[in-house]
Amino acid sequence: MKPRLTQARAAFGAAALVAGLAGAGPLTAQAHRHVDSSAGTLNSGRMIGPMLKDPMLPGLRGLEPSAAPFLPGAGRDPEALPSAIPSRPIDLADGDTLALEATMVQRMVGSRRVVMYGFNRQIPGPLIRVSQGATIHVRFRNAIELPTTVHWHGVRLDNRFDGVPGLTQDPVAPGETFWYTVRFPDAGIYWYHPHVREDIQQELGLYGNMLVRSSRTGYDNPVNDAVVLTLDDLLIDGDGLVPFGKDAATFAIMGRFGTVALINGELEYAASVKAGAVVRYYLTNVSNARTYNVSFGGAPIKLVAADVGKFEKEMLVSSVAIAPAQRYVVEVRFPRAGRFPILNRVQSVDHMRGRFFTAVDTLGMVTVGVEPASPDHRAAFERLGDDPEMRSDVARLAPHFDRPVDRELALTVEIRGLPIALIQFISVDTTYRAPVEWTDPMADMNRLSTANEVRWILRDVATGRENMDIAWRFKVGDVVKIRVHNDAKAFHPMNHPIHLHGQRFLVLARDGVRNRNLVWKDTALLPVGATVDLLLEVSNPGAWMLHCHIAEHLEAGMMTAFTVE
Ligand code: C2O
Ligand code: CU
Repeated sequence: MKPRLTQARAAFGAAALVAGLAGAGPLTAQAHRHVDSSAGTLNSGRMIGPMLKDPMLPGLRGLEPSAAPFLPGAGRDPEALPSAIPSRPIDLADGDTLALEATMVQRMVGSRRVVMYGFNRQIPGPLIRVSQGATIHVRFRNAIELPTTVHWHGVRLDNRFDGVPGLTQDPVAPGETFWYTVRFPDAGIYWYHPHVREDIQQELGLYGNMLVRSSRTGYDNPVNDAVVLTLDDLLIDGDGLVPFGKDAATFAIMGRFGTVALINGELEYAASVKAGAVVRYYLTNVSNARTYNVSFGGAPIKLVAADVGKFEKEMLVSSVAIAPAQRYVVEVRFPRAGRFPILNRVQSVDHMRGRFFTAVDTLGMVTVGVEPASPDHRAAFERLGDDPEMRSDVARLAPHFDRPVDRELALTVEIRGLPIALIQFISVDTTYRAPVEWTDPMADMNRLSTANEVRWILRDVATGRENMDIAWRFKVGDVVKIRVHNDAKAFHPMNHPIHLHGQRFLVLARDGVRNRNLVWKDTALLPVGATVDLLLEVSNPGAWMLHCHIAEHLEAGMMTAFTVE
């Protein structure tokens, strides 16, 4: 299938601005034009974004980010590095040890050979399969060129193995080793990634999943197949990887959106199933910044579980919106033979004119054969189940639902020291704000913004303290109601996936509307202008992070730590 580029050009936001200023209309038409990427230099892979170009605008041409460029593997012959290989599952029993190494690898992206990173050379890293309640040991060795750590995202493990440099451990220097012990109290799909310069290391392939089997019989619905999928996007241009910032993250305003879609690290993800098959997908968004709205070519989707467990009740949905770091477990029934593309259907916006349009990109392809799947799980698929454990958790916590709010956070941004011309373009470009920035229509300007100029802020409304100065303290057993508001009047507002380490929470309400189907989560999406009430169950002692999971926002300061006694 010929890859297509259906989104606006990089310079679209800016082009619209120029067109508006000059009174010349036609430039905005590019937003609606379908550009065939075969005209570009990439000859394979599913394009989901435009190539980056030098800003075409007067006053911006020739500008470079304030951070020096960084590309992996400088001074090494990429062809001498081992090739990246696909993820392999590994089953670990209670007490087992895994040797895990962050390594430099090479791979082809279209016609370009690029240096990337992998865990045990794999992208994604090994799929770790364990039983609920198991404890494993991981001998981690850092064989990349940057200091790193491993964070076990969503897992309520011992604090000292949480992988946060400066909080739970020192970074692991190149060549060094660190032992992690990870226990898995909760069933579901989790993931691991570095907690040092995620904007570089995660983008370059350091991510992998843990699949924790429930100890409850009947937990899983009957399916014909179960598949773990990571959703990712990689930013490349005509020369290969677009450089990162050496000492400060670039793309600090919107985060680093990619131009090529990767499912399980693959450029052309393809799978085949039999007619009528029900497939369980464990979805993890490992992208730096992109939120997806995933569907399967119109096949019915049953939403089963999220970050840290099952929903109260299963429901049928037409698509699944998944922000960076979030997981969803869905079951999909492919009703008949044919091709069912894995689609990302989103809304993009002309920030200046307030024109919204739909962009649909193909992330992968499922081909359904004529042979019928057996057994036929249609009846089970159509039954929408309840989760007794979640029901009882909800009943137990219900007395807290309407209580007054205990803590309040506001999300905002400060920008200092960018060139005046750029500031002006950005502020005009932000006239219309989308609740979720599904695409980056201002990539050229975004690239120029770094963590040197952009400071993303979590502000404690009661004390006025910001980011690492907030320093909340809780006790095990506390149930804390936290209200988070994402300021729509910030200079450049953006959606933020807010993540808490080591605990689990419920998303009780959004904009005052009670959520009627609760699920344990570790990452909640805060659209622009939204107010979300979280109910945090404080269950795990230690010093833990709360931060935005857009890698560049984290690098630009959007984090705090809280202590649980
Ligand atoms: Cu997935 Cu603090 O991280
Ligand atoms: Cu953010």
